[in-house]
Amino acid sequence: LIEAVGAREILDSRGNPTVEVEVLLDDGIVQRAAVPSGASTGAFEAYELRDGDKGRYGGKGVLKAVNAVIDELGPAIEGVEASEQRVVDEILIATDGTENKSRTGANAILGVSLAVAKAAADSADLPLFRYLGGPNAHVLPVPLFNVINGGEHADNGIDMQEFFLAPIGASSFAEALRWGAETYHVLKGELKAAGFATGLGDEGGFAPDLPSNREGLDFLVKAIEKAGFTPGSDIALGLDVAATEFFSDGVYRLENKDWSAAEITEYYEGLVADYPIVTIEDALAEDDWDAWKALTDALGTKTQLVGDDLFVTNPARLADGIKRGVANSLLVKVNQIGTLSETLDAVELAHRSGYTTMFSHRSGETEDTTIADLAVATNSGQIKSGAPARSERVAKYNQLLRIEEELGDAAEYIGRAAFPRYTG
Ligand code: PGA
Ligand code: ZN
Repeated sequence: LIEAVGAREILDSRGNPTVEVEVLLDDGIVQRAAVPSGASTGAFEAYELRDGDKGRYGGKGVLKAVNAVIDELGPAIEGVEASEQRVVDEILIATDGTENKSRTGANAILGVSLAVAKAAADSADLPLFRYLGGPNAHVLPVPLFNVINGGEHADNGIDMQEFFLAPIGASSFAEALRWGAETYHVLKGELKAAGFATGLGDEGGFAPDLPSNREGLDFLVKAIEKAGFTPGSDIALGLDVAATEFFSDGVYRLENKDWSAAEITEYYEGLVADYPIVTIEDALAEDDWDAWKALTDALGTKTQLVGDDLFVTNPARLADGIKRGVANSLLVKVNQIGTLSETLDAVELAHRSGYTTMFSHRSGETEDTTIADLAVATNSGQIKSGAPARSERVAKYNQLLRIEEELGDAAEYIGRAAFPRYTG
């Protein structure tokens, strides 16, 4: 039984405050969870409650959310069985009482929801991935390493937010991680040799001032080859365009030009023809549904089209998208929706509807590794947690190494099969 719930304000990887929650069970088990935070957030995400007191952390303090845990959310679930996750989450949602978790804060609710799951797993003496996924949890996800950072995550001139390396040809997660790290280091050398800065963006990727998005893809291909791998079959490429960030009044502003949705879709078709691209995320803006449909018709059989700001891990928005035939993959961010149960609902709906899923960190992260376990628990097959560098990013990858070891012969790294639409 849940005996007590505590919370505190800690710092995330960007130096901004975030919520950490601790749950104590009556058998003496204590577990904690920390909440991540985005920069290029979708308009339809659950509400992240910040204090707005300019005298502390520039208004970004989270003491209101911390107090909501201590005064309201915690007491509401005391005495409940920790393994009754759906009951716990329903109580949290009802206690908040708003549609988008804005009263107590989705950051407060998520911290409690995840800490309860971890405590229940510990109490059952099971690793989190096995507690949540049962005996069939065995698929190690393909890591998508964000090695070039642009958009809202860096101060360079690149419009697209994330450029991924996807080691789909590796035979284990450990090998995929090694390939990614080796290529990352070669990429640094290539950028340096070409006279570009090799400072890092928020997700640990390099943030060079490249003249075009194609140049970024060219650098990745060069680095893959120079590291001794074959682009496409060993290591494929991916993009998170985060197009909502450069969309306004029906126009996409990319590379200092105005593009219509039709023009930018044609541009993507060219990229997919020229590069081994397994996935494109948020290729269009979060509310541009008709254009998304046309994009899916044009490219959905050639590559994975992921909805992040589009779906915001929200089962209702995803159901709408599925009905319209929009995109073919769901990005999964626990703090976009705010409880574990709703996150798992979204993942289940996606899988049942033939959509793939990619588990995801946020650009503001902590040392919490829950998403690594969630990816394996759901046999998702894909995870993005930034570059293979910087501890808040690597923490998730390192946890996957431990899980792969724990699973032993049962572990399966499905590689390319995680991307059923990829035709490259
Ligand atoms: P965010 O970026 O965490 O800043 O929202 C990640 C993403 O867009 O996928
Ligand atoms: Zn995204």
